[in-house]
Amino acid sequence: MSKDTVTMINNRTEEKFEFDILDATRGPSVVDISKFYKETGMFTFDEGYTSTASCRSKVTYIDGQQGELRYRGIPIEELAENHNYLETCFLLLRGKLPSADELLDFDYEIRHRSFIDENLKQLIDSFPDNAHPMSILSSGVSALSSFYYEHLKNNDEEAKQEMASRIIAKIPTVAAFAYRKSLGIPIIYPDIERSFTENFLYMLRAYPGGKMKRTLNGVEEIKEIEIKALDTIFTLHADHEQNASTTTVRTVASTGAHPYVAISAGISALWGRAHGGANESVISQLDMIGDVKNVDKYIAKAKDPNDPFRLMGFGHRVYKNFDPRAKALKKLQDQLKNELDLDSHLMEIAHKIEEVALQDEYFVSRNLYPNIDFYSGVILTALKINRPMFTPIFVIGRTVGWITQLMEFRRTPYKITRPRQLYLGK
Ligand code: ACO
Repeated sequence: MSKDTVTMINNRTEEKFEFDILDATRGPSVVDISKFYKETGMFTFDEGYTSTASCRSKVTYIDGQQGELRYRGIPIEELAENHNYLETCFLLLRGKLPSADELLDFDYEIRHRSFIDENLKQLIDSFPDNAHPMSILSSGVSALSSFYYEHLKNNDEEAKQEMASRIIAKIPTVAAFAYRKSLGIPIIYPDIERSFTENFLYMLRAYPGGKMKRTLNGVEEIKEIEIKALDTIFTLHADHEQNASTTTVRTVASTGAHPYVAISAGISALWGRAHGGANESVISQLDMIGDVKNVDKYIAKAKDPNDPFRLMGFGHRVYKNFDPRAKALKKLQDQLKNELDLDSHLMEIAHKIEEVALQDEYFVSRNLYPNIDFYSGVILTALKINRPMFTPIFVIGRTVGWITQLMEFRRTPYKITRPRQLYLGK
Protein backbone atom coordinates (compact mmCIF):
# COMPACT_ATOMS: atom_id res chain seq x y z
CA MET A 1 0.00 0.00 0.00
CA SER A 2 1.41 3.38 -0.93
CA LYS A 3 2.01 5.89 1.85
CA ASP A 4 -0.07 9.06 2.19
CA THR A 5 2.08 12.06 1.46
CA VAL A 6 1.98 15.82 1.18
CA THR A 7 3.50 17.32 -1.95
CA MET A 8 5.37 20.59 -1.90
CA ILE A 9 6.26 22.45 -5.07
CA ASN A 10 9.02 25.04 -4.97
CA ASN A 11 7.76 27.57 -7.47
CA ARG A 12 11.20 29.16 -7.75
CA THR A 13 12.79 25.97 -9.11
CA GLU A 14 9.71 23.90 -10.09
CA GLU A 15 11.11 21.07 -7.92
CA LYS A 16 8.55 18.73 -6.34
CA PHE A 17 9.00 17.13 -2.91
CA GLU A 18 6.94 14.55 -1.06
CA PHE A 19 6.65 14.21 2.70
CA ASP A 20 5.00 11.34 4.58
CA ILE A 21 1.84 11.86 6.60
CA LEU A 22 1.96 10.10 9.98
CA ASP A 23 -1.38 9.40 11.66
CA ALA A 24 -2.10 9.96 15.34
CA THR A 25 -4.37 7.56 17.27
CA ARG A 26 -6.45 10.69 18.02
CA GLY A 27 -6.11 14.27 16.85
CA PRO A 28 -4.38 15.81 13.86
CA SER A 29 -2.02 13.81 11.65
CA VAL A 30 1.47 15.24 11.14
CA VAL A 31 3.69 15.80 8.12
CA ASP A 32 7.09 14.21 8.70
CA ILE A 33 9.56 16.96 7.79
CA SER A 34 12.60 15.36 9.45
CA LYS A 35 14.31 15.08 6.01
CA PHE A 36 13.06 18.49 4.82
CA TYR A 37 16.43 20.22 5.03
CA LYS A 38 18.31 17.31 3.49
CA GLU A 39 15.93 17.18 0.55
CA THR A 40 15.06 20.84 -0.03
CA GLY A 41 18.05 22.72 1.40
CA MET A 42 15.61 24.89 3.38
CA PHE A 43 14.41 24.97 6.96
CA THR A 44 10.79 25.19 8.07
CA PHE A 45 9.84 28.25 10.11
CA ASP A 46 7.38 28.15 13.01
CA GLU A 47 7.99 30.74 15.71
CA GLY A 48 6.43 29.65 19.01
CA TYR A 49 5.85 26.16 17.53
CA THR A 50 2.20 26.85 16.78
CA SER A 51 2.12 24.14 14.06
CA THR A 52 4.87 21.82 15.25
CA ALA A 53 4.59 18.42 16.93
CA SER A 54 7.93 18.03 18.69
CA CYS A 55 7.70 14.39 19.76
CA ARG A 56 5.73 11.14 19.75
CA SER A 57 3.88 10.66 23.03
CA LYS A 58 1.40 8.27 24.67
CA VAL A 59 0.91 10.20 27.91
CA THR A 60 -1.63 13.03 27.56
CA TYR A 61 -4.16 13.97 24.91
CA ILE A 62 -5.75 17.40 24.47
CA ASP A 63 -8.48 18.35 22.01
CA GLY A 64 -8.43 22.13 22.20
CA GLN A 65 -11.52 22.59 20.04
CA GLN A 66 -13.66 20.27 22.16
CA GLY A 67 -12.10 21.33 25.49
CA GLU A 68 -11.01 17.75 26.20
CA LEU A 69 -8.08 16.55 28.31
CA ARG A 70 -7.13 12.91 29.01
CA TYR A 71 -4.25 11.34 30.90
CA ARG A 72 -3.44 7.88 29.49
CA GLY A 73 -6.86 7.91 27.82
CA ILE A 74 -8.86 8.73 30.98
CA PRO A 75 -10.85 12.01 30.97
CA ILE A 76 -9.63 14.58 33.47
CA GLU A 77 -13.15 14.99 34.89
CA GLU A 78 -13.22 11.32 35.89
CA LEU A 79 -9.81 11.53 37.56
CA ALA A 80 -10.72 14.74 39.42
CA GLU A 81 -14.01 13.30 40.69
CA ASN A 82 -13.15 9.67 41.41
CA HIS A 83 -9.40 9.34 41.95
CA ASN A 84 -6.81 11.03 44.10
CA TYR A 85 -3.54 12.65 43.11
CA LEU A 86 -1.31 9.69 43.94
CA GLU A 87 -3.50 7.37 41.84
CA THR A 88 -3.11 9.91 39.02
CA CYS A 89 0.68 9.90 39.50
CA PHE A 90 0.71 6.11 39.29
CA LEU A 91 -1.43 6.27 36.14
CA LEU A 92 0.90 8.74 34.45
CA LEU A 93 4.08 6.93 35.46
CA ARG A 94 2.99 3.34 34.85
CA GLY A 95 0.23 3.72 32.24
CA LYS A 96 -2.60 2.26 34.35
CA LEU A 97 -4.49 3.05 37.53
CA PRO A 98 -3.13 1.18 40.57
CA SER A 99 -4.83 -1.77 42.26
CA ALA A 100 -5.58 -1.27 45.97
CA ASP A 101 -2.32 -3.04 46.92
CA GLU A 102 -0.24 -1.13 44.37
CA LEU A 103 -1.66 2.14 45.68
CA LEU A 104 -0.80 1.20 49.27
CA ASP A 105 2.79 0.42 48.25
CA PHE A 106 3.15 3.60 46.21
CA ASP A 107 1.65 5.75 48.96
CA TYR A 108 3.97 4.14 51.53
CA GLU A 109 6.99 4.75 49.28
CA ILE A 110 6.11 8.41 48.69
CA ARG A 111 5.57 9.07 52.41
CA HIS A 112 8.92 7.54 53.33
CA ARG A 113 10.84 9.34 50.62
CA SER A 114 9.48 12.77 51.60
CA PHE A 115 12.49 13.78 53.75
CA ILE A 116 15.35 15.83 52.31
CA ASP A 117 19.02 15.77 53.21
CA GLU A 118 19.89 18.14 56.08
CA ASN A 119 22.53 19.77 53.86
CA LEU A 120 19.83 20.81 51.42
CA LYS A 121 18.08 22.49 54.34
CA GLN A 122 21.23 24.56 54.84
CA LEU A 123 21.14 25.65 51.21
CA ILE A 124 17.52 26.77 51.67
CA ASP A 125 18.54 28.63 54.85
CA SER A 126 21.15 30.59 52.93
CA PHE A 127 18.59 32.37 50.72
CA PRO A 128 17.62 35.95 51.55
CA ASP A 129 14.58 36.25 53.83
CA ASN A 130 12.35 37.67 51.10
CA ALA A 131 13.33 35.09 48.44
CA HIS A 132 10.45 33.99 46.23
CA PRO A 133 9.70 30.30 46.92
CA MET A 134 9.94 29.55 43.16
CA SER A 135 13.58 30.58 43.12
CA ILE A 136 14.33 28.40 46.18
CA LEU A 137 12.38 25.55 44.60
CA SER A 138 14.22 25.57 41.28
CA SER A 139 17.60 25.84 43.06
CA GLY A 140 16.65 23.17 45.61
CA VAL A 141 15.58 20.72 42.91
CA SER A 142 18.73 21.41 40.91
CA ALA A 143 20.74 20.74 44.09
CA LEU A 144 18.93 17.41 44.57
CA SER A 145 20.85 16.17 41.52
CA SER A 146 24.04 16.21 43.59
CA PHE A 147 22.43 14.18 46.40
CA TYR A 148 21.19 11.56 43.91
CA TYR A 149 23.89 11.75 41.27
CA GLU A 150 23.39 8.04 40.47
CA HIS A 151 20.19 8.91 38.57
CA LEU A 152 22.34 10.39 35.81
CA LYS A 153 23.24 6.87 34.68
CA ASN A 154 21.15 4.85 32.25
CA ASN A 155 19.30 2.98 34.95
CA ASP A 156 16.94 0.03 34.60
CA GLU A 157 13.17 0.55 34.82
CA GLU A 158 13.07 -0.03 38.59
CA ALA A 159 15.77 2.59 39.19
CA LYS A 160 13.94 5.04 36.92
CA GLN A 161 10.71 4.57 38.87
CA GLU A 162 12.68 5.14 42.09
CA MET A 163 14.10 8.37 40.62
CA ALA A 164 10.54 9.46 39.76
CA SER A 165 9.02 8.60 43.17
CA ARG A 166 11.86 10.39 44.91
CA ILE A 167 11.31 13.72 43.18
CA ILE A 168 7.50 13.53 43.51
CA ALA A 169 7.91 12.84 47.26
CA LYS A 170 10.51 15.54 47.95
CA ILE A 171 9.14 18.47 45.94
CA PRO A 172 6.39 19.28 48.52
CA THR A 173 8.99 19.26 51.29
CA VAL A 174 11.31 21.64 49.44
CA ALA A 175 8.31 23.86 48.60
CA ALA A 176 7.08 23.88 52.22
CA PHE A 177 10.58 24.65 53.55
CA ALA A 178 10.86 27.49 51.00
CA TYR A 179 7.51 28.85 52.17
CA ARG A 180 8.45 28.79 55.85
CA LYS A 181 11.84 30.30 55.06
CA SER A 182 10.12 33.17 53.22
CA LEU A 183 8.04 33.83 56.35
CA GLY A 184 11.01 33.42 58.71
CA ILE A 185 9.32 30.63 60.69
CA PRO A 186 10.81 27.26 61.73
CA ILE A 187 10.50 24.47 59.21
CA ILE A 188 8.27 21.47 59.88
CA TYR A 189 9.47 18.00 58.89
CA PRO A 190 7.14 15.68 56.95
CA ASP A 191 4.74 13.53 58.97
CA ILE A 192 4.63 10.03 57.48
CA GLU A 193 1.34 9.35 59.24
CA ARG A 194 -0.34 11.83 56.88
CA SER A 195 -1.31 11.39 53.23
CA PHE A 196 0.61 13.23 50.47
CA THR A 197 -1.69 16.25 50.31
CA GLU A 198 -2.54 16.41 54.01
CA ASN A 199 1.16 16.27 54.83
CA PHE A 200 1.85 19.23 52.55
CA LEU A 201 -0.83 21.35 54.26
CA TYR A 202 0.56 20.18 57.60
CA MET A 203 4.11 21.28 56.69
CA LEU A 204 2.72 24.72 55.78
CA ARG A 205 0.53 25.17 58.84
CA ALA A 206 1.90 23.27 61.84
CA TYR A 207 3.78 24.67 64.81
CA PRO A 208 7.05 23.13 66.02
CA GLY A 209 6.49 19.81 67.71
CA GLY A 210 3.81 18.96 65.18
CA LYS A 211 1.15 20.99 67.00
CA MET A 212 -1.72 22.55 65.10
CA LYS A 213 -3.01 26.06 65.83
CA ARG A 214 -5.17 26.33 68.96
CA THR A 215 -7.93 28.91 69.17
CA LEU A 216 -10.71 29.54 71.71
CA ASN A 217 -12.78 27.07 69.66
CA GLY A 218 -10.20 24.29 69.96
CA VAL A 219 -7.44 22.89 67.75
CA GLU A 220 -7.62 23.80 64.04
CA GLU A 221 -7.14 20.40 62.43
CA ILE A 222 -6.79 20.16 58.64
CA LYS A 223 -10.28 19.58 57.22
CA GLU A 224 -11.07 16.71 54.83
CA ILE A 225 -12.64 19.19 52.42
CA GLU A 226 -9.38 21.19 52.34
CA ILE A 227 -7.38 18.05 51.56
CA LYS A 228 -9.83 17.08 48.82
CA ALA A 229 -9.71 20.60 47.29
CA LEU A 230 -5.91 20.76 47.15
CA ASP A 231 -5.63 17.16 46.00
CA THR A 232 -7.99 17.95 43.10
CA ILE A 233 -5.87 21.00 42.23
CA PHE A 234 -2.76 18.76 42.11
CA THR A 235 -4.61 16.24 39.90
CA LEU A 236 -5.80 18.93 37.48
CA HIS A 237 -2.23 20.21 37.10
CA ALA A 238 -0.54 16.79 36.78
CA ASP A 239 0.25 16.93 33.06
CA HIS A 240 -0.56 18.94 29.96
CA GLU A 241 1.31 17.44 26.99
CA GLN A 242 4.02 19.56 25.32
CA ASN A 243 3.54 22.95 27.07
CA ALA A 244 6.46 25.37 27.53
CA SER A 245 7.82 23.85 30.76
CA THR A 246 7.47 20.23 29.58
CA THR A 247 9.19 21.12 26.32
CA THR A 248 11.95 22.71 28.41
CA VAL A 249 12.28 19.50 30.45
CA ARG A 250 12.48 17.38 27.29
CA THR A 251 15.01 19.79 25.74
CA VAL A 252 17.31 19.68 28.77
CA ALA A 253 16.87 15.89 28.96
CA SER A 254 17.92 15.66 25.29
CA THR A 255 21.43 16.84 26.22
CA GLY A 256 21.88 13.90 28.58
CA ALA A 257 21.68 16.09 31.70
CA HIS A 258 20.60 14.78 35.11
CA PRO A 259 16.79 14.35 35.29
CA TYR A 260 16.45 16.61 38.35
CA VAL A 261 18.31 19.41 36.57
CA ALA A 262 15.82 19.06 33.72
CA ILE A 263 12.96 19.33 36.24
CA SER A 264 14.60 22.42 37.75
CA ALA A 265 14.67 24.00 34.27
CA GLY A 266 10.97 23.12 33.91
CA ILE A 267 10.27 24.91 37.20
CA SER A 268 12.02 28.02 35.87
CA ALA A 269 10.04 27.89 32.63
CA LEU A 270 6.80 27.53 34.56
CA TRP A 271 7.45 30.62 36.68
CA GLY A 272 6.72 33.14 33.90
CA ARG A 273 3.33 34.85 34.00
CA ALA A 274 2.39 33.62 30.51
CA HIS A 275 2.58 30.09 31.97
CA GLY A 276 2.25 28.88 35.60
CA GLY A 277 3.06 32.28 37.08
CA ALA A 278 -0.38 33.40 35.88
CA ASN A 279 -2.11 31.98 38.97
CA GLU A 280 -0.28 34.46 41.23
CA SER A 281 -0.87 37.28 38.71
CA VAL A 282 -4.63 36.61 38.51
CA ILE A 283 -5.15 37.38 42.19
CA SER A 284 -2.85 40.43 42.09
CA GLN A 285 -4.85 41.64 39.09
CA LEU A 286 -8.19 41.11 40.86
CA ASP A 287 -6.78 43.16 43.74
CA MET A 288 -5.65 45.88 41.36
CA ILE A 289 -9.10 46.02 39.70
CA GLY A 290 -10.41 46.37 43.23
CA ASP A 291 -14.13 46.71 42.52
CA VAL A 292 -16.72 45.41 40.04
CA LYS A 293 -17.28 48.94 38.86
CA ASN A 294 -13.72 49.01 37.44
CA VAL A 295 -14.08 45.80 35.41
CA ASP A 296 -15.16 47.54 32.18
CA LYS A 297 -12.13 49.84 32.34
CA TYR A 298 -9.72 46.91 32.60
CA ILE A 299 -11.51 44.91 29.90
CA ALA A 300 -11.03 47.94 27.63
CA LYS A 301 -7.31 48.02 28.54
CA ALA A 302 -7.00 44.30 27.71
CA LYS A 303 -8.57 44.93 24.30
CA ASP A 304 -6.40 47.95 23.47
CA PRO A 305 -3.67 46.82 21.01
CA ASN A 306 -1.45 49.69 22.23
CA ASP A 307 -1.68 48.65 25.87
CA PRO A 308 0.46 45.67 27.03
CA PHE A 309 -2.14 44.85 29.71
CA ARG A 310 -3.56 41.32 29.38
CA LEU A 311 -6.32 39.70 31.33
CA MET A 312 -4.48 37.14 33.45
CA GLY A 313 -6.11 33.71 33.52
CA PHE A 314 -7.63 34.19 30.07
CA GLY A 315 -6.57 32.56 26.82
CA HIS A 316 -4.66 29.42 26.00
CA ARG A 317 -2.47 28.30 23.13
CA VAL A 318 -4.34 25.02 22.72
CA TYR A 319 -7.85 25.48 24.16
CA LYS A 320 -10.11 27.35 21.81
CA ASN A 321 -13.02 26.34 23.99
CA PHE A 322 -13.42 26.25 27.79
CA ASP A 323 -10.34 24.76 29.51
CA PRO A 324 -11.78 21.54 31.07
CA ARG A 325 -9.53 22.04 34.12
CA ALA A 326 -11.04 25.51 34.60
CA LYS A 327 -14.53 23.97 34.38
CA ALA A 328 -13.61 21.43 37.06
CA LEU A 329 -12.19 24.17 39.31
CA LYS A 330 -15.24 26.37 38.84
CA LYS A 331 -17.38 23.42 39.95
CA LEU A 332 -15.08 22.86 42.92
CA GLN A 333 -15.35 26.55 43.84
CA ASP A 334 -19.14 26.23 43.88
CA GLN A 335 -18.95 23.09 46.06
CA LEU A 336 -16.60 24.82 48.51
CA LYS A 337 -18.66 27.99 48.81
CA ASN A 338 -20.53 26.82 51.89
CA GLU A 339 -17.68 24.93 53.50
CA LEU A 340 -14.64 27.18 53.13
CA ASP A 341 -14.13 30.84 53.64
CA LEU A 342 -13.92 31.89 49.95
CA ASP A 343 -13.14 35.57 49.45
CA SER A 344 -16.52 36.83 48.24
CA HIS A 345 -15.13 40.21 47.16
CA LEU A 346 -12.50 38.65 44.87
CA MET A 347 -15.07 36.17 43.56
CA GLU A 348 -17.49 38.96 42.75
CA ILE A 349 -14.88 40.75 40.63
CA ALA A 350 -13.84 37.47 38.97
CA HIS A 351 -17.45 36.59 38.11
CA LYS A 352 -17.98 40.03 36.62
CA ILE A 353 -14.83 39.74 34.46
CA GLU A 354 -15.94 36.31 33.28
CA GLU A 355 -19.46 37.56 32.50
CA VAL A 356 -18.26 40.60 30.55
CA ALA A 357 -15.41 38.87 28.69
CA LEU A 358 -17.46 35.84 27.62
CA GLN A 359 -19.89 38.16 25.84
CA ASP A 360 -17.37 40.58 24.41
CA GLU A 361 -16.65 40.34 20.67
CA TYR A 362 -12.87 40.76 21.24
CA PHE A 363 -12.66 37.72 23.54
CA VAL A 364 -15.28 35.67 21.66
CA SER A 365 -13.66 36.13 18.24
CA ARG A 366 -10.22 35.17 19.64
CA ASN A 367 -11.61 32.19 21.58
CA LEU A 368 -10.30 33.58 24.85
CA TYR A 369 -11.84 31.62 27.71
CA PRO A 370 -10.86 31.47 31.38
CA ASN A 371 -8.01 28.99 31.92
CA ILE A 372 -7.12 26.91 35.01
CA ASP A 373 -5.25 29.81 36.60
CA PHE A 374 -8.34 32.01 36.63
CA TYR A 375 -10.04 29.87 39.30
CA SER A 376 -7.23 28.27 41.31
CA GLY A 377 -6.21 31.44 43.20
CA VAL A 378 -9.53 31.94 45.00
CA ILE A 379 -9.48 28.32 46.23
CA LEU A 380 -5.82 28.49 47.27
CA THR A 381 -6.52 31.72 49.19
CA ALA A 382 -9.36 29.95 51.03
CA LEU A 383 -6.85 27.21 51.94
CA LYS A 384 -4.81 29.97 53.65
CA ILE A 385 -1.99 29.61 51.14
CA ASN A 386 -0.19 32.87 50.41
CA ARG A 387 0.21 34.15 46.85
CA PRO A 388 3.92 33.46 46.28
CA MET A 389 3.08 29.78 46.94
CA PHE A 390 0.51 29.54 44.14
CA THR A 391 3.05 28.70 41.42
CA PRO A 392 4.94 26.24 43.69
CA ILE A 393 1.58 24.44 44.12
CA PHE A 394 1.44 24.16 40.33
CA VAL A 395 5.00 22.76 40.43
CA ILE A 396 4.03 20.09 42.97
CA GLY A 397 1.16 18.93 40.76
CA ARG A 398 3.11 19.09 37.49
CA THR A 399 6.29 17.30 38.64
CA VAL A 400 4.81 13.90 37.81
CA GLY A 401 3.98 15.07 34.28
CA TRP A 402 7.50 16.38 33.70
CA ILE A 403 9.17 13.23 34.98
CA THR A 404 6.80 10.95 33.05
CA GLN A 405 7.47 12.84 29.83
CA LEU A 406 11.22 12.79 30.48
CA MET A 407 11.16 9.03 31.04
CA GLU A 408 9.11 8.51 27.88
CA PHE A 409 11.57 10.65 25.94
CA ARG A 410 14.57 8.67 27.13
CA ARG A 411 13.01 5.25 26.65
CA THR A 412 13.63 5.37 22.88
CA PRO A 413 16.73 6.60 21.03
CA TYR A 414 16.68 10.39 20.96
CA LYS A 415 18.47 13.29 19.34
CA ILE A 416 19.60 16.48 21.03
CA THR A 417 16.92 19.17 20.54
CA ARG A 418 18.56 21.68 18.26
CA PRO A 419 16.37 23.92 16.08
CA ARG A 420 17.79 26.23 13.40
CA GLN A 421 17.04 29.87 12.55
CA LEU A 422 16.14 32.32 9.83
CA TYR A 423 19.29 34.43 9.92
CA LEU A 424 18.63 38.13 9.25
CA GLY A 425 21.79 39.68 10.68
CA LYS A 426 24.89 41.11 9.02
N1 ACO B 1 -5.99 39.27 27.39
C1 ACO B 1 -6.19 40.02 26.28
N2 ACO B 1 -5.90 39.61 25.04
C2 ACO B 1 -5.39 38.38 24.88
C3 ACO B 1 -5.15 37.53 25.98
C4 ACO B 1 -5.48 38.00 27.27
N3 ACO B 1 -5.29 37.24 28.33
N4 ACO B 1 -4.61 36.38 25.54
C5 ACO B 1 -4.52 36.49 24.20
N5 ACO B 1 -4.98 37.70 23.80
C6 ACO B 1 -5.08 38.19 22.43
C7 ACO B 1 -3.76 38.63 21.88
O1 ACO B 1 -3.53 40.00 22.11
C8 ACO B 1 -3.92 38.31 20.42
O2 ACO B 1 -4.72 39.31 19.83
P1 ACO B 1 -4.43 39.81 18.31
O3 ACO B 1 -4.68 38.60 17.45
O4 ACO B 1 -5.39 40.91 18.08
O5 ACO B 1 -3.01 40.24 18.27
C9 ACO B 1 -4.72 37.03 20.41
O6 ACO B 1 -5.48 37.08 21.62
C10 ACO B 1 -3.89 35.76 20.37
O7 ACO B 1 -2.94 35.83 21.44
P2 ACO B 1 -1.52 35.15 21.42
O8 ACO B 1 -0.64 35.81 22.42
O9 ACO B 1 -1.03 35.07 20.00
O10 ACO B 1 -1.89 33.69 21.87
P3 ACO B 1 -0.89 32.58 22.40
O11 ACO B 1 -1.52 31.29 22.09
O12 ACO B 1 0.49 32.81 21.87
O13 ACO B 1 -0.81 32.85 23.98
C11 ACO B 1 -1.29 32.81 26.30
C12 ACO B 1 -1.48 32.12 24.92
C13 ACO B 1 0.22 33.06 26.53
C14 ACO B 1 -1.81 31.89 27.38
C15 ACO B 1 -2.06 34.16 26.29
O14 ACO B 1 -3.44 33.90 26.07
C16 ACO B 1 -1.87 34.96 27.58
O15 ACO B 1 -0.89 35.68 27.70
N6 ACO B 1 -2.80 34.80 28.58
C17 ACO B 1 -2.67 35.47 29.86
C18 ACO B 1 -1.69 34.71 30.75
C19 ACO B 1 -2.26 33.39 31.25
O16 ACO B 1 -3.39 33.32 31.74
N7 ACO B 1 -1.43 32.33 31.18
C20 ACO B 1 -1.80 31.01 31.66
C21 ACO B 1 -1.95 30.05 30.52
S1 ACO B 1 -2.52 28.48 31.10
C22 ACO B 1 -1.17 27.78 31.80
O17 ACO B 1 -0.05 27.95 31.46
C23 ACO B 1 -1.46 26.86 32.89
